[in-house]
Amino acid sequence: MPTETINDVAVLGLGTMGHGIAQTFAAAGYQVRCYDDHPAARASLHQRIRSNLQAFVKAGLLDETKIEPILSRVQACDTEAAAVTNVSFITEAVKEDLPAKLELFERLESLISPQTILASNSSTFPISQSGARLQLPGRAIVTHWFNPPHIVPLVEVVPGPQTSEETTQTTFDLMQDIGKQPLLLRKELPGFLVNRIQIAIMREVWDLLDQNVASPEDIDAALRASVGFRLAALGPLEVHDFGGLDIQTTVYRNLITEIRSNTEIPDVVRKLVEQGHLGPKTGRGFHDYSPQRLADRQARRDSLFLALLKLLYPDSVKGSA
Ligand SMILES: NC(=O)c1ccc[n+]([C@@H]2O[C@H](COP(=O)([O-])OP(=O)(O)OC[C@H]3O[C@@H](n4cnc5c(N)ncnc54)[C@H](O)[C@@H]3O)[C@@H](O)[C@H]2O)c1
Repeated sequence: MPTETINDVAVLGLGTMGHGIAQTFAAAGYQVRCYDDHPAARASLHQRIRSNLQAFVKAGLLDETKIEPILSRVQACDTEAAAVTNVSFITEAVKEDLPAKLELFERLESLISPQTILASNSSTFPISQSGARLQLPGRAIVTHWFNPPHIVPLVEVVPGPQTSEETTQTTFDLMQDIGKQPLLLRKELPGFLVNRIQIAIMREVWDLLDQNVASPEDIDAALRASVGFRLAALGPLEVHDFGGLDIQTTVYRNLITEIRSNTEIPDVVRKLVEQGHLGPKTGRGFHDYSPQRLADRQARRDSLFLALLKLLYPDSVKGSA
């Protein structure tokens, strides 16, 4: 399906990811119908997108006059059926729960045409799992976005063994059309590519914290000033090349048996979760988030992300449609 024939898309689940995904399609000129089974998520949709767009304006990435036209293309629907009827492309961003995704896709097939593409934003489940009950599995694919989805450029596009070539090509073209940098994986596997790498880093970071090698503040500052700094400009394999593969393989051999291989969640993290310290949503995680500190950290995060976007991916910002 040529992307020029796609005008209407739907986003289901309007939480952390869904509202930003809807915003991205709308900024690129698509009509976006949205549904969440929590009325509060539907009611707050426009306000959350407006606030994101205002940050783009503040960063000099969007003209203020574009905010209302973008918002006018986003419709919060009262029912799932109203959101998906007659759209060409649907992205689900409901909770990370396999039965919920299986049931949703199964239900949707009775409401949509055979040509409609179904994309899952799952962080871990390949489409051969979440789309296992589909009558037409060729129409289903993973598009894995990264938080905040209206800012981070990459979207992993992961077809399953039964996904049709047409679905894959249309999805890839669509992601490019909305300003994203699609990465087409050659095979599907749980967690796709980026989350597998992120988990490997997370395991060692959590272990070092558990061993009390450094404070949470120092670990974050150290990674930002080294690995994070380099990775903003170079890919990891390029970093290895520049370091020299003779040195890198020696470092690998010397350290690979030293780093954590245990698959249990380290005590320090397990205890935080048991005590209900889950991050900003509960006021504390690895760091404290009083309301004032949270507002400061969030504003800082978004302005730095937008500055990086402007510097490194200026073409990914859409909004003049
Ligand atoms: N948060 C992240 O960093 C991130 C990144 C990439 C992918 N994902 C994936 O995106 C998906 C959504 O994650 P999130 O972080 O936005 O979750 P979230 O909890 O913030 O939002 C999920 C939303 O879906 C709604 N919902 C649940 N079941 C529904 C249904 N059947 N129909 C309609 N709405 C329903 C909920 O009310 C909620 O508003 C998950 O699969 C997650 O793994 C998350």
